[in-house]
Amino acid sequence: MASHIRALLAAQSQITILDVVTRGERAVGVVGELHPDVVIVDALLQGRPGGRTVASMIRQAEPSAGIVMLTVPQNPIQEDAEHGIDTVLTMPLNGFDLLLAIRRAAEERRGQSGHGRSMVISLFSPKGGVGRTTLAFNLAVALAGDGPVCLVDGSIQFSDLRGLLRVPPTAPSMLDLPTERLREGDMSEVIWRDPSGIDVLLAPPRVEMAEMVTTSDLEKFLSLLRRMYAYVVVDTRASLDEDVLAILDGSDRILQVLAFDAMAIRSLAMARETFAAIGYSPGKLSVVLNRADTAGGIDRADVEAALGGPIDFEIVSDGRLVLAANNEGVPFVSASPDAPIAAGVRAIAASLTAGRTLPVASPVSH
Ligand SMILES: Nc1ncnc2c1ncn2[C@@H]1O[C@H](COP(=O)(O)OP(=O)(O)OP(=O)(O)O)[C@@H](O)[C@H]1O
Ligand SMILES: [Mg+2]
Repeated sequence: MASHIRALLAAQSQITILDVVTRGERAVGVVGELHPDVVIVDALLQGRPGGRTVASMIRQAEPSAGIVMLTVPQNPIQEDAEHGIDTVLTMPLNGFDLLLAIRRAAEERRGQSGHGRSMVISLFSPKGGVGRTTLAFNLAVALAGDGPVCLVDGSIQFSDLRGLLRVPPTAPSMLDLPTERLREGDMSEVIWRDPSGIDVLLAPPRVEMAEMVTTSDLEKFLSLLRRMYAYVVVDTRASLDEDVLAILDGSDRILQVLAFDAMAIRSLAMARETFAAIGYSPGKLSVVLNRADTAGGIDRADVEAALGGPIDFEIVSDGRLVLAANNEGVPFVSASPDAPIAAGVRAIAASLTAGRTLPVASPVSH
């Protein structure tokens, strides 16, 4: 059974098998260690406890994990979320049924449990230099008043946050995390605790190390961090490659950062067409116009027309303050809380904080 499921899931990259447990009594312990999004339980599991009991025990111990129950036609089973049966799959099954059931189980649980209310926010732009790293850092600090925050350095090659935060090259990075059986304790050991009060998961210190961080590693990091922090803010590199797509898929909100720059506007408009094709819900997407007071001859209405949607947030330009704060590696939201640029970042934070108590938009995958 396990190798059949493994074969069905091998063809795609969005779901990672964390472990296969063959004895019911070990299941709760392993689930508690690995915090999977979804557990597949064989209803005909041999020995004691049997499949139904295992499902019910997992529901008690780890309410955030969705559970798919596998059965055969001779042993029909009803869905029963209270006892850990979110979705039932009857053999024989194909890869499509399996993916759908896993996704359904994950999404149903996400909104239900306390853990599910954690929010992953990524800052995205297909064009470089628009202010993602600066805004990600300051937004993370602004959110820290509302719960624990982890900032993730998604600029894997050049590790923008190492540069910004003056981190010593010896500080551990995501590359020091185990690729198998990743636990909260491992994460806590590599996290950089910034004086600004936020935790940071750093990218590797050298460019050539970037290729050792795989897309599936990034997915695993995000899903674990989601369980550890109220907010996970991800800085990304200027691209829409496989890694960035995985980060965006795993995000509840995507802040698309833009400046009054014809090329940035054009590439973002193109990326938004992709987002629409993928099926990202409009509630997941917001546009942040950085340096909004330096239009450079471009009309705001033209920007919105090009993007096919409104600009949701505006951040003013403040070259002197940003330069000084960035050169010292301190957040301007704390160093100069009265500056208009700080108020702009706080407005984004306030809108996200307000959204956290509501059901968040669930990522639709492609
Ligand atoms: N609102 C602002 N006012 C003034 N300067 C800003 C503002 N936002 C960003 N900057 C400056 O713009 C430059 C680029 O910012 P940042 O590095 O944060 O952008 P990025 O999108 O992460 O770039 P990269 O493509 O290199 O990752 C920096 O020098 C920063 O100081
Ligand atoms: Mg950057």
